[in-house]
Amino acid sequence: MLHLSFPNISHKSEYLAMISEWQAFEVTPTSPRKLFSWETYEDFLEIVKKDITDNPHGVNSTLFFFMDDDTILWAIQIRHSIDHPNLSLEGWCGGNIWYGLRPSARGKGLSKKMLQLGLIEAWKLGIQKVLISAHEDNIASWKTIESCGGEYIKTIPDEGKSLKVYWILTDI
Ligand SMILES: CC(C)(COP(=O)(O)OP(=O)(O)OC[C@H]1O[C@@H](n2cnc3c(N)ncnc32)[C@H](O)[C@@H]1OP(=O)(O)O)[C@@H](O)C(=O)NCCC(=O)NCCS
Repeated sequence: MLHLSFPNISHKSEYLAMISEWQAFEVTPTSPRKLFSWETYEDFLEIVKKDITDNPHGVNSTLFFFMDDDTILWAIQIRHSIDHPNLSLEGWCGGNIWYGLRPSARGKGLSKKMLQLGLIEAWKLGIQKVLISAHEDNIASWKTIESCGGEYIKTIPDEGKSLKVYWILTDI
């Protein structure tokens, strides 16, 4: 069954299996190893725990594994606020949510469910609408956003690319 789960030590072997898959497919900024500089899985757990109340980047966030039973399909991160120049509507529009699937889980229509589950968690955190953005060339991402009720706001330039920016109401 598809669900979100807060990372804990019981996920360690599954997580490491996912990391080895990633090394075989690609090393991009979406790889967990690129997102979190950790030495051990235990370090990674400390980072995600600290991010909830004491995020070093200034805005607290909660990361959940997106899972199919015991298999980690990867993760969705919910930033508790967008009160930061990199995240705000007036700034870089990074928004409240980041999400990603491991390479072997892509192209199967799973992203919509992941984002829907993330929206429920955002609602539980008291966020009534989330700001979320995707590059225009990341068609799978902005289509996922639109299929989850994303209301288009604007497109802004971003380092030679275009970033599409949306609001999504969480009480859906
Ligand atoms: C973004 C991501 C989670 C999407 O997951 P995915 O499994 O690739 O997407 P899906 O296969 O579910 O496709 C989503 C939709 O986009 C459509 N789509 C995907 N690629 C497409 C393309 N090249 N042209 C047209 N439509 C496309 C799919 O048909 C689907 O539409 P539907 O819901 O109407 O059927 C995944 O690609 C990923 O992890 N990417 C790396 C991380 C990332 O970019 N995260 C987002 C940051 S904004």
